[in-house]
Amino acid sequence: MVLGRATSPPSSTAFRRTVFDRKRAAKLLRNLPQLTTSRLLLRKFKRTDVHDVFAYASDPEVALFTVWEQHRDLKTTRQFISTVLKAYRQGHPAPWAIVLRKTGKLIGAITLRNWSLAHSRAEVGYVLSREYWGKGYVTEALNAVLAFGFSEMELHRIEAKAVPENRGSTRVMEKAGMKCEGLLRDYELVKGAYQSLNLYSILKSDFDAR
Ligand SMILES: CC(C)(COP(=O)(O)OP(=O)(O)OC[C@H]1O[C@@H](n2cnc3c(N)ncnc32)[C@H](O)[C@@H]1OP(=O)(O)O)[C@@H](O)C(=O)NCCC(=O)NCCS
Repeated sequence: MVLGRATSPPSSTAFRRTVFDRKRAAKLLRNLPQLTTSRLLLRKFKRTDVHDVFAYASDPEVALFTVWEQHRDLKTTRQFISTVLKAYRQGHPAPWAIVLRKTGKLIGAITLRNWSLAHSRAEVGYVLSREYWGKGYVTEALNAVLAFGFSEMELHRIEAKAVPENRGSTRVMEKAGMKCEGLLRDYELVKGAYQSLNLYSILKSDFDAR
């Protein structure tokens, strides 16, 4: 009887011998670099951003599909910024502020969170002030963040999730070349109700082939 031969490891692109170690990851996140696109600057948040952040975070339409509640006072926004600044200091994943290069106005945020070092994977999330929707800003920011994730963080896969009703977010993910992998049923308990979310992803190989 012939026994099955040991199978060879997965293809070289899928099989990585090294992963980002914890120390190196923390150093990169502590010094989260500024990213520049044709119209935008992605930079670290500052305490003085409080009014610009409150302007979008207090808008119920902006917060309709977000996991966080609409901000009802500046204190909540100050707490949000403090949490972000603490995450930078500790070398944990934290958002970039999306800023218009032309005016210096902060109009939103984008983040690469849930970084799994063992699996070279992270999840992207974003939000934009309603006044600026539909002008391609988040797609522009997302492309820069995907490039950063695949090059500087050496990620293999980047995910994003959105409720199917969030047509704007769905379109952003599609325009960036992310593929829908299916519906995660009753995946998150948000604002007192279970939400089903579509899971999207892009692999480094997809991104390089775009
Ligand atoms: C989702 C969001 C980030 C999109 O940002 P944006 O800068 O407006 O996105 P872009 O302009 O790059 O692209 C939006 C696309 O969605 C489309 N779109 C927007 N609203 C839509 C709707 N209700 N139905 C169908 N398409 C819609 C736009 O037409 C555009 O597609 P196109 O370029 O093919 O015309 C922004 O609307 C937002 O901040 N929403 C609230 C927060 C949120 O939902 N965050 C995501 C949580 S998963």
